[in-house]
Amino acid sequence: MSGAKATAVAHPNIALVKYWGKRDEALILPHQSSFSVTLAPLAVTATVEFRSQPGEEIRINGKDAAGKERARVFELVSAVRAQGGRELGGGVVVETRGDFPAAAGLASSAAAFAALAVAVRAAAGAGRDARAESILARTGSGSACRSVQGGFVVWHRGERSDGTDSFAEQKFPAAHWPELRLLVGVVSREEKKVSSRDGMRTTVETSPFYAAWAAAAERDVPTAVDWVRRRDLEGLGRLAEQNAWRMHASAMGASPPCCYLLPQTLRIIQALAAARERDGLRAWFTLDAGPNPVVLTDAGGEEAVAALLREAGAAEVVRCHPGGDAALSSEHLF
Ligand code: PMV
Repeated sequence: MSGAKATAVAHPNIALVKYWGKRDEALILPHQSSFSVTLAPLAVTATVEFRSQPGEEIRINGKDAAGKERARVFELVSAVRAQGGRELGGGVVVETRGDFPAAAGLASSAAAFAALAVAVRAAAGAGRDARAESILARTGSGSACRSVQGGFVVWHRGERSDGTDSFAEQKFPAAHWPELRLLVGVVSREEKKVSSRDGMRTTVETSPFYAAWAAAAERDVPTAVDWVRRRDLEGLGRLAEQNAWRMHASAMGASPPCCYLLPQTLRIIQALAAARERDGLRAWFTLDAGPNPVVLTDAGGEEAVAALLREAGAAEVVRCHPGGDAALSSEHLF
C-alpha cells in the first residue's frame, strides 16, 4: 500500500562513556561500547511518507537536504524498503525538524536519525521494536542508536560482522533519576572544523593511544551503569570527566592532531573544578567532539551551575534532564 505516513519524536543524548572509533565504517560498528542519557526537553521530529509517484524529497529544518546528509537519509529509507513486506510505492517524502538547531550547541543528528528510524519503520507498516529501530538508527549516525530508548542507555559494541548485535539497550528509565540535570554551556555555535566521523577515523588510524582508549572505555561502561544504579552523582561525574579527557587525549594524539577544545572550554572546566574545591559544588563536565561542555549536576546544583557557566563565558546555557523513549506522534510535519 502506498501513501503510508508516520511521524516520530526523539530526544538527543549525551554520552557519559563516549563512542569514539569505528571498526566498520559502512555499518557504523564501534570498537567499544558506550553509555548515555537522553536529553529532554530537546527533541527532533521526523515525518516519512511513502508515495506511489516516484522521486525523493528530503527536507531538514525546512531546507532541501544535499550531499552526504541526503545520501545517509536516503540509505536508511532504502534499507527499510528493501526489507519488503508491504508495497510502498516508488517515492518517498522525508522531513525532519529539530527544536534546537545550532543554538543548543549539541548535534541534532542523533535525535534526527532515531526519530527517522522509528518513523520509517512505522510508515512501512512494521511494529515497534526497539532493537530493530536502534540498529537502523545506528546506520544513519552511530550515537543515534542511543536515542531510540530514553533514560540511561548502553550501546553494546557487539561482536558480529553484520552488526546485528550492535544496538543500544535501556538500563534505567528517566524516572530512575529525575533530579539529574545536564546543562550545556554554549561557547560556540559554529560547525566544528573536523566532524566526529573524520576525527574518529584519524584517531583510529594514527593515534598510538587509540587501543588504550578503547580498552579503558569498555571497562568504564559497567562502572558508569553502577553509579547510575546508585544515583551517585559524584561517582558518575568523576568517571564521565575522566572518560571525556581520555577520549580527547586519544584524539589529540592523532596525526594531524585533533583538538576540539577552545580557550573558553578550558575556562569553564577550570571554573568548575575551582567551585567544587571552594564551595563544594556538586558538578562535573563531559565534552563531545566540540567545544561546548555539558555539566552534570542535580536539581540542587542547577542554579549555581547555570551562573558559573555564564560567568565563565558561555553565551547560552541550555538546561536538560533525562528524557523518555522516541515516540510515534499524530502531528505530521506535512
Ligand atoms: O554518532 P556520531 O558520528 O555523531 O559520533 C558521536 C561521537 C561523540 O559525540 C563524540 C561521542 C558519543 O558517544 O556521542
